Amino acid sequence: MARIFLIGFMGCGKTTLGRKLAARLNYSFFDLDQLLEEQAGMSVAEYFSSFGETAFRVAESEILKQTAYPENAIISTGGGLPCYFDNMAWMNANGKTIYIQLSAKALASRLEKGKDERPLLRDKQGDELVNFIADKLAERESYYKQAQIIADGFGLTAEKVTDLLHIS
Ligand code: S3P
Repeated sequence: MARIFLIGFMGCGKTTLGRKLAARLNYSFFDLDQLLEEQAGMSVAEYFSSFGETAFRVAESEILKQTAYPENAIISTGGGLPCYFDNMAWMNANGKTIYIQLSAKALASRLEKGKDERPLLRDKQGDELVNFIADKLAERESYYKQAQIIADGFGLTAEKVTDLLHIS
């Protein structure tokens, strides 16, 4: 039995890798942001602007803990989720956690494109974006590093993750 939680900063590749990993292992795939969007009937960006970040943090934690995961599941989490409430401890107690680690510089170049859907980033560009990412990452790494496995996100493949997990 394996429930695998993918954690890490926005843009580190949790969703893309999670889908590939689930397909490779024949596990079910869950994306917590997507579940929240389905349940709320609106995008994450709309949720932030309608209800604010504090309400979003409560909602994402509830979805994390209340979803009925099957025995074998890959769960991709939102970038802030491990840093609120007891979410990190809960994931460690209920499955395996993998931190997909990338530098702030690498994240910034990957996020130039997808930043519009991300309420924390959408109004930032250039140096302001890079500095925001560096500061936020520094603030969050102590949570991310509580993961059971830390994987270098550079060139990470589903195959490498299965090796790290010792499953095939
Ligand atoms: C957030 C990350 C996003 C989403 C929300 C807030 C964050 O998820 O949950 O925009 O605080 O880092 P991704 O990491 O999937 O972009």
